[in-house]
Amino acid sequence: MKPARRPLLGALALAALLSFLLLAAPPSGLLSSSSSSRRRAPTSPYAHRPKLLFLLAGQSNMAGRGAPPAPLPAPYLPHPRLLRLAADRRWVAASPPLHADIDTHKTCGLGPAMPFAHRVLLSDPAPSSLSEPTAPSSASSPVVLGLVPCAVGGTRIWMWARGQPLYEAAVARTRAAVADGGGALGAVLWFQGESDTVEADDARSYGGKMERLVADLRADLGLPSLLVIQVGLASGEGNYTDIVREAQQNVNLPNVIYVDAMGLPLSDDQLHLSTEAQLQLGEMLAQAYLEFNSSRDPNL
Ligand SMILES: *[C@@H]1O[C@H](CO)[C@@H](O)[C@H](O)[C@H]1NC(C)=O
Ligand SMILES: *[C@@H]1O[C@H](CO)[C@@H](O)[C@H](O)[C@H]1NC(C)=O
Repeated sequence: MKPARRPLLGALALAALLSFLLLAAPPSGLLSSSSSSRRRAPTSPYAHRPKLLFLLAGQSNMAGRGAPPAPLPAPYLPHPRLLRLAADRRWVAASPPLHADIDTHKTCGLGPAMPFAHRVLLSDPAPSSLSEPTAPSSASSPVVLGLVPCAVGGTRIWMWARGQPLYEAAVARTRAAVADGGGALGAVLWFQGESDTVEADDARSYGGKMERLVADLRADLGLPSLLVIQVGLASGEGNYTDIVREAQQNVNLPNVIYVDAMGLPLSDDQLHLSTEAQLQLGEMLAQAYLEFNSSRDPNL
């Protein structure tokens, strides 16, 4: 969802105009544009099954930037049990760019979430070939992953504070994700802070704002021990990257894991992770998640 840049009434008017255009004889370019075909992606047959959910939040390195390579690396290909909550809150097959209808003011590319999800699916002991989407769900059903993309490029952490549109959208989308099919939120994957390295005040207040954000998310989602996996910055837009990284490392809350992206290869802009780096990061996030999950007290 776009952060309330365009007033709601404007969005409603646009939606009304669009539905009118679609009911009337559609002008040939409109329906063939990639955004409208994405918007009409069919609902997944697994849509109403319980899922293991992951909230994807932060800024451009979570959404992904740059033209995707062709052919796509295998961890970016769709998988029958890998779904994405679209901007219109329907469960559709996940395929990149995951944030295309969420982070709409830039062209999105490949982020870490697809390789993360493929790795988590691989770890699932249940045989996948026997799965039937229509079979009644049971404890032995193979896991269905539901990704909830919410990241928006260029955002600073104050824009993710409770009451701000990005925060409220993330909470509302997560609640909608649980409501449609049920399931459990496995973790929040958080990759943000590059925009907080420009102003000294932003960098110095980052740690407090991050702790507040984690506490508010846990309270509003009713999950006091919700796992948050934050990515240590690999780059910054300004001169205070070290200060933000230090704040990230010093977040003093239980069940907040730090996965360091520093040193992963960057693209030519020296700000965005390369595809190779995103593949590695997805793998690192999955390892962190699986390690945490296997040591978690199942009675908690
Ligand atoms: C970073 O520091 C250099 C050297 O002091 C300065 O020229 C540059 O404008 C600074 N960059 C930002 C984004 O503030
Ligand atoms: C998480 O751990 C539980 C055991 O505590 C296990 O049953 C489940 O399969 C694990 N989930 C994943 C995705 O590995």
